[in-house]
Amino acid sequence: MSSIYGKLFSVSTWGESHGEAVGAVIDGCPAGLPLSEEDIQQAMDRRRPGQNTLVTPRKEADKVHILSGVFEGKTTGTPICLAVWNENQHSKDYTEMMNWYRPGHADLTYDLKYGFRDYRGGGRASARETLARVAAGAVASKILKLACGTEILSWVESVGTVTSNVDASKVTLEAVEASPVRCPDPEASEKMAKAVAEAKFAKDSIGAVLALDIRKPPVAVGEPVFDKAQAVLGGALLSISAVKGFEIGEGFHAAELHGSENNDVIRFEDGKYRTLTNHAGGILGGITNGETIHCRIAFKPTATIAQEQETAGRDHQNGTLAARGRHDPCVALRAPVIVESMAAIALVNLFLEQRARKLF
Ligand SMILES: Cc1cc2nc3c(=O)[nH]c(=O)nc-3n(C[C@H](O)[C@H](O)[C@H](O)COP(=O)(O)O)c2cc1C
Repeated sequence: MSSIYGKLFSVSTWGESHGEAVGAVIDGCPAGLPLSEEDIQQAMDRRRPGQNTLVTPRKEADKVHILSGVFEGKTTGTPICLAVWNENQHSKDYTEMMNWYRPGHADLTYDLKYGFRDYRGGGRASARETLARVAAGAVASKILKLACGTEILSWVESVGTVTSNVDASKVTLEAVEASPVRCPDPEASEKMAKAVAEAKFAKDSIGAVLALDIRKPPVAVGEPVFDKAQAVLGGALLSISAVKGFEIGEGFHAAELHGSENNDVIRFEDGKYRTLTNHAGGILGGITNGETIHCRIAFKPTATIAQEQETAGRDHQNGTLAARGRHDPCVALRAPVIVESMAAIALVNLFLEQRARKLF
């Protein structure tokens, strides 16, 4: 089971939703990076459940502990182990999932693959695993921020059919966090909150699209053939639970354009190359050009819903299941920081690789 991501800044995540703890081991973080638990906790708090009535009511402090790899406030270049103890499991909610497969979830495919699974809380398929990615992502973000001034920001762009209208370059973290659905457009935010509340009331769930901006990214990172920056970023983002689609720049819309509309005019100004538009989304030939990397990530509606649905079970029986448990009616509302974290981990790997590509 490959739980390890990245060649140079390698992140291994471990732990199950209803086990003792979850966490990450980072191997390859350069020495000398100032790092405290507080740096990581800020990101963890944005992912935490129970923040309002539109997300899962599971209440956990999600307090991160640095168990190794940091001495006197700086990384030592040795493996950094980050751990969070699980506190608020309700394993009884999952007894039906022992015998019945939730439509849309990973219960059936885990059984097909392993023949045996930790059904409590979804085990490794639980979004609790993403907590480890957020912890490691906070470290990756700090490296990119200190080395290049990179800022990574994600927000909710649409929920169901409700879409927002914002100038992406002006979106701030404060505006995103001020919205209960993490949408910086106040009018759309209100409509989205209503759509999520209605889905929850109907014992249903709803999907959403997230926007991702990587501002001031490292320039010239990404490999020209297989490890193109968009392939690495896409792979990292598609590895997040419930992600079903990824676009960069104009994405699928580029297929509707002519070259004269889609090409970005290049200019040399103030000592550097810029483009007047950014249809490419900051990457050409698999290599970053220094413009903002802009992506869109589609999240499906939460699989576990309280509505009765037809399904099949472990003993080859057919029947129905109305799932119990505390679930997010729209998983994407807690996902912006997860998206930012995976983008940071992917990009820091490309950044460190580029250091071996060019001497002068
Ligand atoms: C932040 C976040 C929260 C999630 N919460 C739930 C949840 O409460 N209930 C659920 O069934 N799925 C939830 N998911 C999605 C499942 O983990 C995911 O759908 C499942 O593992 C199957 O994988 P797949 O959808 O990628 O195929 C969540 C995902 C994320 C990113």
